Order: sequence, then C-alpha cells, then structure tokens
Amino acid sequence: MPTTESTPLIQQVPVAEPRLIAVPILTLVIILFCIAVGGDSDLFGEHEKALLSSTANQFPDLSLPHAAWPESEGLSYKALKKLLLDTPDPDKAREWSKYYTAGPHLCGKNLSQAEWTRDKWVEFGVKQADIVSYEMYLNYPVDHRLALLRADEVVYEATLEEDVLAEDPTTGLADRVPVFHGYSASGNVTAGYVFCNYGTYDDFEDLKEAGVELKGKIALVKYGGVFRGLKVKRASEMGMVGVVMYSDPGDDGEMTEKNGYKPYPDGPARNPSSVQRGSVEYLSIAPGDPTTIGYPSKPGVDRQSPEGIIPDIPSLPISYAEALPLLKALNGYGPNASSFNDRWQSGGLGYKGVQYSIGPTPAETSIHLMNEQDYVTTPAWNVIGIINGSIPDEVVVLGNHRDAWIAGGAGDPNSGSAALNEVVRSFGAAVKQGWTPQRTIVFASWDGEEYGLLGSTEWVEEYLPWLSDASVAYINVDVGAIGPVFRAAAAPLLNKAIYKVTGEVRSPNQTVEGQTIRDTWNGHISTMGSGSDFTAFQDFAGIPSIDIGFEAGPGSPVYHYHSNYDSFHWMDKYADPGFKYHATMARILALLTAKLSEEPVVQFNATDYAVGLKNYLQTVKQKAATSNLSPLTPATFHPLDKAIAQLHDISVSFDAKASSLSTQLQSSTSTSAFAELYASVKTINTKYKFLERQFLHAPGLDGRSWFKSVVFAPGLWTGYAGATFPGIVEAIESGNQTGVDRWVGIVEGKVKGAVDLLVDQ
Ligand SMILES: *[C@@H]1O[C@H](CO)[C@@H](O)[C@H](O)[C@H]1NC(C)=O
Ligand SMILES: *[C@@H]1O[C@H](CO)[C@@H](O)[C@H](O)[C@H]1NC(C)=O
Ligand SMILES: *[C@@H]1O[C@H](CO)[C@@H](O)[C@H](O)[C@H]1NC(C)=O
Ligand SMILES: *[C@@H]1O[C@H](CO)[C@@H](O)[C@H](O)[C@H]1NC(C)=O
Ligand SMILES: *[C@@H]1O[C@H](CO)[C@@H](O)[C@H](O)[C@H]1NC(C)=O
Ligand SMILES: *[C@@H]1O[C@H](CO)[C@@H](O)[C@H](O)[C@H]1NC(C)=O
Ligand SMILES: *[C@@H]1O[C@H](CO)[C@@H](O)[C@H](O)[C@H]1NC(C)=O
Repeated sequence: MPTTESTPLIQQVPVAEPRLIAVPILTLVIILFCIAVGGDSDLFGEHEKALLSSTANQFPDLSLPHAAWPESEGLSYKALKKLLLDTPDPDKAREWSKYYTAGPHLCGKNLSQAEWTRDKWVEFGVKQADIVSYEMYLNYPVDHRLALLRADEVVYEATLEEDVLAEDPTTGLADRVPVFHGYSASGNVTAGYVFCNYGTYDDFEDLKEAGVELKGKIALVKYGGVFRGLKVKRASEMGMVGVVMYSDPGDDGEMTEKNGYKPYPDGPARNPSSVQRGSVEYLSIAPGDPTTIGYPSKPGVDRQSPEGIIPDIPSLPISYAEALPLLKALNGYGPNASSFNDRWQSGGLGYKGVQYSIGPTPAETSIHLMNEQDYVTTPAWNVIGIINGSIPDEVVVLGNHRDAWIAGGAGDPNSGSAALNEVVRSFGAAVKQGWTPQRTIVFASWDGEEYGLLGSTEWVEEYLPWLSDASVAYINVDVGAIGPVFRAAAAPLLNKAIYKVTGEVRSPNQTVEGQTIRDTWNGHISTMGSGSDFTAFQDFAGIPSIDIGFEAGPGSPVYHYHSNYDSFHWMDKYADPGFKYHATMARILALLTAKLSEEPVVQFNATDYAVGLKNYLQTVKQKAATSNLSPLTPATFHPLDKAIAQLHDISVSFDAKASSLSTQLQSSTSTSAFAELYASVKTINTKYKFLERQFLHAPGLDGRSWFKSVVFAPGLWTGYAGATFPGIVEAIESGNQTGVDRWVGIVEGKVKGAVDLLVDQ
C-alpha cells in the first residue's frame, strides 16, 4: 500500500498546518486509499459515520481573521471587479495563444511550457507559483500501419497523416505529433472488419441482435456519441481484435462539403484529412494514472496493473478521406445501416459512394492494423499558483490544462490557457496594488489532461486532506473559446453564481447595446459528468465544480478537435479573430473566482441543490417505470422522496438566513458590527462548504470504486455525459432489485446527512 503522506503543495502552502486537517477527514482519506488498493471494505460503515459526524461537527475558528470585512486590504470588492473586467486584453490573449501553440506539448514532453507559465504568473504578481510534478505511466507512438488487403494484395495503404497546408505553418512542423490514441494497446492484427456505427453499447447490441459476426473482426466506427475509450472497451468485450475510428462529416451539421462549403483552409468545412487523436483510457471506470488509482503517482509509489482500465486491443484514429476506401469495400456485404434504427442513419458519405453496409467483409478482404506504442513512466508538470487569503480554511481553485494532442491546440486547451493567463494577470494587478483576497485562490495549469485527466487527478489525490477540509469550489476551463456560444456545466450549488456573473460581463457581439453574456445565453446548465479536469474535484472529492467555455454554434466553422488544424492560424482566421471571446472568457472566469472568494457569505444556493436532486430522482423514476424490474413501484423511492423534500425545506430557510446575513453585512458599517456577525457567517459558510461533501460514499460506486459521489458520475457507457444517482441507475439497468433498494438506502442516508448539516444546532 502506498504512503498517504503529502509533500507540501509548494513550499509555503498551508497544507501542513495541523489545525486545518481534522483527524476524521484524515481517517477517511486513509480509508479511501485502502479501498482503492483493495482494502477491507467491511470497515466502511464505521468510517462513513465518522465522516458524516465529523464534517457536520467540525467547526472552525470563529475569531475574526486579520483583514476581514468590510473591505479587503488595498482594494474594495467593487474596485476589484472593475479591475478584473478592464484588465483582460485580446492582444495579450492572442500572444499567449501563439506561444502555447508554437510547438508540441504532449503530456510530459514540454517542461519549458510549464516553466514559462510559472515565470509569467510570477511576473504578473502571483509570487507563490511553482511546478508540482508526478510520474505518469503513459504511451508515446512509435509506429503504425493501416492497409486494406484483398487476398493478401495491398489495395489501399493509408498515409495516417494530415495534409500539410501552406497557409498553416503548424500543420507542417517537423516535430508534429503522429496520429495515435493515448493508452492504446500495441498490436499487429490482420482481420476482416465490420462497420459498427458509433460503437456505443446500444450499437453493439443492435449488431448482436442482427446476428452480425463480430468475434475476431476489426471494428470500423465513427467518432461521436460516447467517449472513444468506451467504444474500444465494448469492441473488446465483443471479442473483436482492433478498432479503427474516423470522423464522419455526417456529424458536422450544416458546414459540410456536401452542402457546398469549402473545407479548411479555404472555408469552414472539415478538412477531409483531419484526424481526431485522443485517449482511450476507460474514463468511466477511473481517470488518472491507471497504475495508481486513488493515490498520487509520486516517484517510487507502488503501481498496480492497469488491466481493466486501459484497452487490451489496438486502435487507430483516421480521417474520413482514409476511411472512404474501407467503407466502400463493405458495399454490398451484410445488412445496410439504413435497415437499422434511427441512430444508424446519420452517415454523411453517401454522396461519395458509401452505402454504409455493415459487413463483415468477405473472406478475402481484410485490414492490416499495426500499432506500436512505447509505454513509459515519465515526469509531468502541473503549475500551481497561490494567492493567500485572509481566511486560511476557505479555498477557491481555478484550473485549465496545458497539454495538447498536437503542436497546436489553439482551441483545446490553449484558448483556456490564454484566458487563464489573463485571469492571473488581472489578479496579479490587484495584488500589486496591495490587495489580499478573503479566501485563498489557487490557479492551476494541469499537465496530462488529454491522456485521462492525469495532472488534476493526481493533484487532488495528493492534496485530498487539505482540499476536503478547505476547498469551497473548483472552476474549470478547458476549451475556452472556439465560437460564440456560451456553455456551462455545474453543480447546482453554483448555478446562482454563474447566472449572476454572466449578467455582469458584456458580450463581445453587441447586437443590442449593453447586451451581456447572460442575455445571449439560453441559460441551460448541464449536469457534471466527466471529460475534463473537474472530475476528481466533483466526483472524487465532493467539491462543487463549474466547467465553462464558448463553443461553436450552428453557423460556426467545423472545429477540428484534436487535429493539426486546431491551430493558431485556424483560431486567428476562423474561430475567434481578434480574440475577443478569449478576453471575455477571462473576464467571466475572473469574476466567478472573485464572486466565490470575496463575498462574505459564500455564494451558494442549497435550494437549487435540493431542486436538482428532485429532478434527478424524477428521471430515475421514469427510467424505473420503463425497466423490466416489475416490482419497482413509486414506493421504492418513497423514502428518498421524503428525504429530498426535507432537504428542500431546510435549504429554503438556510438560504434565507444566509441571504439575510449578507444584507445585514452590507448595511452595517462599523467594524464591531462585522465582528459580531462574523461567527454566524463563518458557521453558514462552513456548512455550505461541506454540503457537497455529504454526498460522498467512501466505498464508491459498484465496480468503479474511485467514483465517490452518489449524485454525479460519468455515465458508465457514455463517459462524458453526466449520470445522476449513478448507483441507483446502474442497479436498475442491470435489473438488480436488491441493488436498487440498497442504493436508494445509501442515497437517502446521504440526503439525511445533508439535512443534519444544515439544520440549526
Ligand atoms: C501563505 O500561507 C501559508 C500558510 O498559512 C504560509 O506558510 C505562507 O508563508 C503564506 N505565503 C505568503 C506568500 O504569505
Ligand atoms: C515546447 O513549447 C514551446 C512553445 O510552444 C515550443 O516552441 C517548443 O518547440 C516546445 N518544445 C518541445 C521540446 O517540443
Ligand atoms: C506484423 O505481423 C506481420 C504478419 O502478420 C509481420 O509480417 C510483421 O512483421 C509484423 N510487424 C510487427 C511490427 O510486428
Ligand atoms: C443496401 O443499399 C443499397 C443502396 O444504397 C442497395 O443497392 C442494396 O440492395 C441494399 N442492400 C441490402 C442488403 O439491403
Ligand atoms: C452576432 O450576433 C448576431 C445575432 O445573434 C449574429 O447574427 C452574428 O453572426 C453574430 N456575429 C458574430 C461575429 O458572432
Ligand atoms: C435560491 O434558489 C431558489 C430556487 O432556485 C430561489 O427561489 C431563491 O431565491 C434562491 N435564493 C437566493 C438567496 O438566491
Ligand atoms: C445486486 O446488488 C446487490 C446489492 O448491491 C449485490 O450484492 C449483488 O451482487 C448484485 N447482484 C448482481 C447479480 O450484480
């Protein structure tokens, strides 16, 4: 079993301050580690109880800290907000974007970008900034081949290259990154193949039902629908021996060559040679370094076999140009996709002569798929910057990943990185004016997100005791700006903060004078799933999280996700010319951070959480009604209904109390009046802080124990999309009545724990 000892975050960080680390939380952490490495789960009942009572009873120091309200030192909240809105500069964002996209920055391959980022942050005024490194188990591409054979003759040899474009220097870099999949298995197979649509669980069920032979074949699948690793997982479970994935223009909306649009670089349609790289780790089973699930990948730790978390069959990503010969060679063999259900009707290459026949190919036709990967354990580098606040046990973290699959990455992730740098520069400007935040602010530039959320997951695993005790919220930005459409996902506790802040930032596209982002946005906030660095915060550590960005709209150019064409040139010419959306993203992130760090009363809304839970339960009930578990009746969920209703009631009065305290603080002017209110504020804030934590279940979800939240997890077979009440839903899906009852009981217990936390004592 690995050591649970944390090394200091960076030298001066408050991690080591013993007062901050409550003993019961440490106990929980040790238990989490034990389960992660196969410890004795019988111990859990006791420790869960310890957790519940500990967080509810763990009251902080109520004496007024130095530099507390009404005003932060140096700068009023109002003046700070103005500074945060005025500082972000599109030209600077463009400069940072140009820097990050100048050369390859795969995880563990570009220390100089980490050092540059740290140095910039220090120069901006965030002096406590340093590199925090881990040793990640991961793969780099060595060699590959994909050929179409007919009776051993090569009839088509794929180049496995994206076209070099004269207009776009990134595409022709000598050290550009080959096309490959992160965590794919090495392999060398020759076999017939089958068109498996999107390769989702349901697609494979359809194929099984139609009697299509899958065993021993290679799967030719489209990107889309679910996380790519889960396509490989299911193909492997079906006895298939390899997977070839391509991007079908049928999923590109309006902007297609078929509709008369020119492809990049001459127009907004997909370049036919573009290839989507990406990870095939089984992200819904566990993210992070697959050899250190649940504990940090520090040098010298024990490592487990990654079996069951990364694929055991090879896979390769290709372009639609190179998929065409493979698709056409299927014409006339097996059933047509058109004879299947709706999900199978979206292929966009019919006009190129593809019939979308499913196959399998006849005996003489096969694919040779060779994939050689070098697996190594290699250093990777997070950059962590900290501005100490006046309240040491309340922390807000803002993060973005830096690593990309390609030399470019102007959209993913470096539009977010450019925006983050502008946020740091804005807060740095405040620090230079003598400002101190109320709550501690942590900035993070993660490495290795692309392989499987590595940098953020290992960091959360390492600092779990401190984060469990002190963190209030995590804000994530991955793709910051690739179009004009604002998108948000969040824990319901944070809905209110997002609505407020988007109403305070002007839209860069003023179709009506004074228009804010809130005015241009449909207001939809998605549920948290996975797919970016908030996962360890939200799903493992119970820290309410936000994930935002500007995405492409219906009229936007096609986004060349994980392709060489996600380049600086593409961003500058098509996606965000003028970098206005980059600067706008920086303003939103900065105001969100300030809203969560500076308002005396933490800007959460517990009622929204209760309403969220009620809605999620409604969805579960609908699912139950259509399941083949006949004894499932509304009565099954009655205890949970009751607990959620109770939580709702108590939340309404709790939020009202919080809101009235806020008002009192605003109207009281003397320091002594503040001192009097401080104890009440601190109590409220502490309860808000621990509310999301109440929904952690130490043994984790069945079959994927790393996931501790009973409310949010990635869908087992979708990977990205948020599944709510995953324990209950998976028991329904697997037709397990005992499991349903057990999970309803577990969730009910958690909701009651939340009630106990909020109730007056
Ligand atoms: C930040 O806070 C920590 C712990 O309270 C302290 O050790 C450190 O010196 C502080 N850093 C600065 C720059 O004040
Ligand atoms: C690291 O990134 C910088 C800036 O983007 C780039 O110029 C350089 O080529 C990269 N270095 C390596 C070793 O790939
Ligand atoms: C792959 O297998 C073929 C035979 O099926 C063999 O000729 C070739 O050398 C193998 N390549 C590698 C890299 O192992
Ligand atoms: C599949 O569709 C093509 C036309 O796209 C048609 O010619 C062919 O007969 C169909 N095959 C089957 C098995 O339905
Ligand atoms: C600005 O908004 C209008 C109205 O929604 C839209 O038609 C136009 O394309 C937008 N312009 C940009 C540059 O996003
Ligand atoms: C909290 O959320 C509820 C439900 O959305 C809303 O009615 C209430 O006004 C909110 N309270 C505050 C203080 O924002
Ligand atoms: C059904 O759920 C119960 C309780 O969670 C569990 O013990 C049992 O193993 C499950 N049965 C199956 C077939 O998965």
